Amino acid sequence: MNSSVTTAGIAQSLKVSRRNALKMITMGMVFGLATTPFAPASSGHAADVKGKKTLIVYFSMPETNNPDNMTREEDNSVVVIDGKVLGNTQYVAQLIQEMTGGDIFRILPQKPYPTDHRTLVDLAKGEQEQDARPVIAGKLEAPEAYDTIFIGYPNWWGDMPMILYTFLEQYDFSGKTLIPFCTHGGSGFSRTIQTIQDKQPGATVIRDGYSLSRNRMERAPSGVAAWLKEIGLKK
Ligand SMILES: Cc1cc2nc3c(=O)[nH]c(=O)nc-3n(C[C@H](O)[C@H](O)[C@H](O)COP(=O)(O)O)c2cc1C
Repeated sequence: MNSSVTTAGIAQSLKVSRRNALKMITMGMVFGLATTPFAPASSGHAADVKGKKTLIVYFSMPETNNPDNMTREEDNSVVVIDGKVLGNTQYVAQLIQEMTGGDIFRILPQKPYPTDHRTLVDLAKGEQEQDARPVIAGKLEAPEAYDTIFIGYPNWWGDMPMILYTFLEQYDFSGKTLIPFCTHGGSGFSRTIQTIQDKQPGATVIRDGYSLSRNRMERAPSGVAAWLKEIGLKK
């Protein structure tokens, strides 16, 4: 299949950018996600992956809900499927859910963050400088039910967003396996895997997490599949 012809055709018929059409094809071909782009906050069951009950927890901050006329910053922070906007980390989280059958929980701030790029960047910097603990809306249902917990986030200012600190201080995951994943603009994980271990000393934190540049989002389906296979968690 000639992908440039296909992406152009899809972009034209659905009125999305070629970049986003490429993302749509990649996702749709592999998982048929195009018809069900949004997973529920929790699928309500604890699925088994090789006998393990798995949960995917993530924070993601798409900088727009509008798939049309995106600024460069907005386009950088999202993938678009069938006209619906997903944050980069949200997209990776959904792929992990598809491939492991786990439940999913999205960390959302009680007070919603601004989507305007400059305002968000400044707010995030301020939170980091103040060592803030933004309040999370909602709670994990029965965290004790899970053996394996994926934890996903974007790299913000060389660290996890401060709301991840809130999350990691709110629960005790001793005895569980924590598996980090992140999306970023070039910094990778920074020091965040060690920070997760420091915050959860009783948990086993997998060092071989999955990080993906926002400029390589089309690699997510094959990259996530290969990584899950490597760490023995592909369904
Ligand atoms: C407030 C803020 C700070 C960021 N800081 C960094 C950084 O220090 N290093 C980096 O590689 N990317 C940084 N980025 C880019 C994000 O990590 C990247 O766009 C990520 O894929 C966004 O994921 P999301 O759409 O799931 O929120 C930053 C983005 C924002 C909004």
